[in-house]
Amino acid sequence: MPLLELKNLRRAFYGLDVLRGVDLSVEEGTITGLIGPNGAGKTTLFNVVSGLVPADSGSIRFAGREIAGAAADIVSRAGLVRTFQVARGFPRLSVFQHLMIYGREQPGESLWQAVIGSRAAREREAALAERAWETARFLRLDHLIDNPATALSGGQKKLLEIGRALMAEPRLVLLDEPTAGVNPTLQNEIGERLLELPKRGITVLLIEHDMGFIARLCDPVIVMAEGQVLTQGSFDFVRADHRVREAYLGARAA
Ligand SMILES: Nc1ncnc2c1ncn2[C@@H]1O[C@H](COP(=O)(O)OP(=O)(O)O)[C@@H](O)[C@H]1O
Ligand SMILES: [Mg+2]
Repeated sequence: MPLLELKNLRRAFYGLDVLRGVDLSVEEGTITGLIGPNGAGKTTLFNVVSGLVPADSGSIRFAGREIAGAAADIVSRAGLVRTFQVARGFPRLSVFQHLMIYGREQPGESLWQAVIGSRAAREREAALAERAWETARFLRLDHLIDNPATALSGGQKKLLEIGRALMAEPRLVLLDEPTAGVNPTLQNEIGERLLELPKRGITVLLIEHDMGFIARLCDPVIVMAEGQVLTQGSFDFVRADHRVREAYLGARAA
């Protein structure tokens, strides 16, 4: 059974069909690539799957459960967590505080428990802090852990965005252009980190425009065009498909 299975997923905005019946599966343990020309609907697909934007129709099965119609916090608590194409954040908070905030979104966790300062809450806080440190070490951000997030370079902000997703203890992460605008050295570094995720039991679905990056990390690669899946397979397989090249050329001409 696939970890994520989408069937005939549809979404329109103001009469414009953006997702026109998307069918796809993501197998557990993979780093699956999602590519396609600008405007293909990739980010919209992430928005719908993560519960940010409701689907008009269709099915989203995650870990055997139907989650279409579930709100974003329910979806993330179920273990499906996404990052954003444009990094968001709280300018005044440190790297450590950012990680702590995203780790707190856990089942059974309440502000009340944190406020009353029970022993269980303190233990939970200590475990969370250890997890934040571990995540920072894993992403090689530990030397920056007390810096304000705004002091990070563009690439380090991308790593922090990934770190926040990891703090939620996901089974599946949806990464929207995790290396957009990042220099090649840091892009390689981010790639190295992502290759570790399946070994930690985390499956990855990632959108990226850099084909070298996709070729190095992703198998399979799913190609979207005009709101539907065009084809999927190994990078070499999809690259050899003339329809894929035409989709990119068509989008550039448009
Ligand atoms: N909230 C929205 N309101 C209106 N149109 C939207 C909205 N979100 C996405 N779209 C439209 O959906 C299409 C696909 O966009 P997007 O999913 O961002 O594509 P991609 O990520 O593949 O480049 C675009 O034409 C975009 O303008
Ligand atoms: Mg996009």
